[in-house]
Amino acid sequence: MTSKIIPVEPFDYVIFGGTGDLAQRKLLPALYHRDHDGQLPEGARFIGASRGEYSQEAYQKFAHDALRKHVAEDQRSDDSLKRFLARLDYVRIDVQSDKGWDVLKAKLDDGMEGKIRAHYLAVGPALFGPITSQLEKFDLIDDRTRLVIEKPFGRDLPTAEKLNNEVGLHFREDQVFRIDHYLGKETVQNLLALRFANALFEPLWNCSHIDHVQITVAETVGVGSRAGYYDQSGAMRDMVQNHLMQLLCLVAMEAPATGDADSIRDEKLKVLKSLKPIPAENTVRAQYMAGAGPEGKVDGYLDELGDESDTATFVALKAEVENWRWSGVPFYLRTGKRMAMRMSEIVIQFKPVPHSIFGEGAGSPISNRLVLRLQPDESVKQWIMIKDPGPGGMRLKHVPLDMSFADNFDGHNPDAYERLLLDVVRGNQTLFMRRDEVEAAWKWIDPIFETWNETNQPVRSYTAGTWGPSQAIALIERDGRTWNDGDE
Ligand code: BG6
Repeated sequence: MTSKIIPVEPFDYVIFGGTGDLAQRKLLPALYHRDHDGQLPEGARFIGASRGEYSQEAYQKFAHDALRKHVAEDQRSDDSLKRFLARLDYVRIDVQSDKGWDVLKAKLDDGMEGKIRAHYLAVGPALFGPITSQLEKFDLIDDRTRLVIEKPFGRDLPTAEKLNNEVGLHFREDQVFRIDHYLGKETVQNLLALRFANALFEPLWNCSHIDHVQITVAETVGVGSRAGYYDQSGAMRDMVQNHLMQLLCLVAMEAPATGDADSIRDEKLKVLKSLKPIPAENTVRAQYMAGAGPEGKVDGYLDELGDESDTATFVALKAEVENWRWSGVPFYLRTGKRMAMRMSEIVIQFKPVPHSIFGEGAGSPISNRLVLRLQPDESVKQWIMIKDPGPGGMRLKHVPLDMSFADNFDGHNPDAYERLLLDVVRGNQTLFMRRDEVEAAWKWIDPIFETWNETNQPVRSYTAGTWGPSQAIALIERDGRTWNDGDE
């Protein structure tokens, strides 16, 4: 993808959990790509920290293996690999004790005054408190230090508040970068461009013209080796509370006065606060059974977990934003593992024309639909009606104005983490969740769990490789609408 590369100022990234899955799959490859594109300055360093015993060379080898696995061959060059690996160091730290912290301190003390130092906690949230207090104890926090944390930010409002309080004891809010990697996705940001860099959509972007909105994040993967973590969270905590709600906010928010972080986050917060409490009948939760995945026959969730559980791997909700703009417009959300295809998209369904002037032979006008495909095959499609070309009188045809990213832009499509990791260095919090946003999201999610408990709402089943349980189809069809299912 063509972009102007603006180098950032010198920094150190300390990656707690530096030998973990996230570091291997996402963080090291993302940092490598930025280096490969020439965006990292002289003096930028990455220090992996974990309990494992690695020398600097062994960690470099570990990173090299990760890059071979997770960076496309045409993006790897000997020079770039050499330069990137030379930036890596390692420190063995037991974050629950004092062991290793003075080594980290000595490594960070490289004499570069005012250098930005970011601590990335790619570890479970139970360690956020211990690590941040050790950082303070060992005098590793100053005005230019930043903290990056990954979800889950709690499992409900009280635990989220507790986590935020723990972190807030040591870091100011403008130093805390809460990652929701969906916000770093190219097409998610494109939503901002589409809405606020075009005069075309805004006049129509409201309940007078929009019939409903659909947000789908469907995955074909199962939980696999993450079953232990996943069983504690399920689709609601793993995907809805963060990724889907953030997408909903970007669709529904008012135009911010400026593109700066707090203007945007203030508007998203207002959306979260306007969400109407959801009754149980507007929700469906379900778990996958054995069926088919892209790789053939696949096990059900319980077999993968090896235990009994009623954790939902699929959730569908009919949400409403109670304000002037969106009154009466349903937002249908759904997400699940082991679904029919990998597909994330936002559908804006416009209302029908008020009156058709065309005779029966022409066919009825089909309502306009704007489809933003987030992944895979990123695209923006505006479905419109035209006349089917050729003789034979008026026949209406529904066709897309189709902007496919792959067809229009060349090159490497940056992963969300590439942008987010450098936004931390730039100190730009626009694509990160503010404390009050996270808490407002839980305030809406918690009562859904309570409703499920009070009403004993069953966890339905669906066969792996399908679009979820029939109840999710009924959730939208009883309103006379249908899921897009990647058709358009
Ligand atoms: C993560 C979830 O946040 O997002 C995973 O914990 C999920 O369960 C993943 O698979 C999906 O991200 P992406 O970028 O592949 O859509």
